[in-house]
Amino acid sequence: MSEKPNRREFLTATAGIGLALSAGALAAKKTPASKKARAYRPPEGFAAPPLETVRLAFVGVGLQGGSHVRNFLKIDGVQIVALCDIDEPRAKEVRQWVVDDGRPAPDIYTRGETDYKRLCERDDIDLVFNSTPWRWHVPVCVEAMETGKHTAVEVPAATTVDGCWQLVKTAERQRLHCVMMENCNYGRSELMVLKMVRTGLFGELLHGEGAYIHDLRSIKFSDKNEGLWRLAHSVDRNGNLYPTHGLGPIAQCMDINRGDRFDYLVSMSSPARGLKLYAAEHLPADDPRRKLEFALGDMNTSLIKTGLGRTIMVQHDTTTPRPYSRINLIQGTCGCFTGYPDRIHIAGRTEGHGWDDIEAYREEFEHPLWRKLEEQAAGAGHGGMDYLEDYRLIECLRQGQPTDMDVYDAAAVSSVVELSEISVAKEGRPVEVPDFTRGGWRTNKPLEIVS
Ligand SMILES: NC(=O)c1ccc[n+]([C@@H]2O[C@H](COP(=O)([O-])OP(=O)(O)OC[C@H]3O[C@@H](n4cnc5c(N)ncnc54)[C@H](O)[C@@H]3O)[C@@H](O)[C@H]2O)c1
Repeated sequence: MSEKPNRREFLTATAGIGLALSAGALAAKKTPASKKARAYRPPEGFAAPPLETVRLAFVGVGLQGGSHVRNFLKIDGVQIVALCDIDEPRAKEVRQWVVDDGRPAPDIYTRGETDYKRLCERDDIDLVFNSTPWRWHVPVCVEAMETGKHTAVEVPAATTVDGCWQLVKTAERQRLHCVMMENCNYGRSELMVLKMVRTGLFGELLHGEGAYIHDLRSIKFSDKNEGLWRLAHSVDRNGNLYPTHGLGPIAQCMDINRGDRFDYLVSMSSPARGLKLYAAEHLPADDPRRKLEFALGDMNTSLIKTGLGRTIMVQHDTTTPRPYSRINLIQGTCGCFTGYPDRIHIAGRTEGHGWDDIEAYREEFEHPLWRKLEEQAAGAGHGGMDYLEDYRLIECLRQGQPTDMDVYDAAAVSSVVELSEISVAKEGRPVEVPDFTRGGWRTNKPLEIVS
């Protein structure tokens, strides 16, 4: 397709697989920039009153939630007051970590899937940190905000467009933060690239490529942790189920919602083979999962066009044998960076048509957050970037600053889950991305190089 398609040609709904853009999403497209939204988010970002100590409660303390608990034990100004998990032994185990750190034992909530509501009834919690399986992300965040708490949620914040709108509208109405914890935005390479972008090294940005290519076959068939819930999403959904790690850092560089926006996307999936083959080879003959059929194409590729005309390719493959990659490519008029492995080409600096070793640029472009926190972050999850995101969340709340990522970022990046499914189901036709900022993206200020 050489031209931007006529708006009327865009798909706004799909029948058959029950994936329709919500009425809320469609209505919001027609609504002019609402005064309330603009009041909620001034151009410099939404800020809440500063908190001296952040009283923190966790919902979901499995692998990732537990890893966050360990980080917060190392961050000043945090009090862990409550833990909620349907797995009582796990909640007790994590509670013991807090006690072993010399702190009061947090209360635990383990009376089933909706016990988070009882936790939310408390009035001594500032922030609910949500690391539950995907289907609980929106209900827990909405309940927390409705009862007056800021929320932080693991990725993706929502898996439907309707869920994205629920988060945006609840945060606006309640005037509370809803932060999606996209740790890859804090990766050492990703933050160095952000600094390079901000200092103009790449010239004008034109194109980005991101991905979540991670062979999760054994994890999806595991009988614990993500094995208990992630496989089900591969049965009836076909699109990019996990776009945020690849897209988050590119969106940050391209000022998505802060000068540019995702406009529309097209998406296609390859055949689905990996899980079926893996089940046949690895599961016992009588395991019922051998009979499962999977909708999720092994490789999903989506292409997003931005409001300023840039392009972003984002891929998802969790079901074939392949080394891990988030691609992490940024192309500008003056050069290109790509990850896996990290390398760079800058016109006027790089000789010929090859790549430079990124280490030659580190001294000049290392991000100040990494310079400051590298030692403290050592040993934390995912190479330390999880510590940086948790540190920044608390720092922003305590200083009453806008958070680095806000609810609009959470919605834009997460909406790609359902929008890619819609496009796949319609043979790769273009699908519009809702403007969750309702026009605010034109005047919102870009995220600065946080120091
Ligand atoms: N950012 C990252 O790099 C990263 C890495 C891993 C996982 N994640 C995300 O973190 C989230 C959790 O993943 P995980 O790997 O920790 O999975 P997990 O299965 O290890 O943990 C989920 C926990 O939630 C609990 N739980 C389930 N339903 C609940 C409910 N209704 N109320 C309270 N607790 C409930 C489970 O018992 C479990 O302890 C997911 O959204 C996932 O996508 C992000």
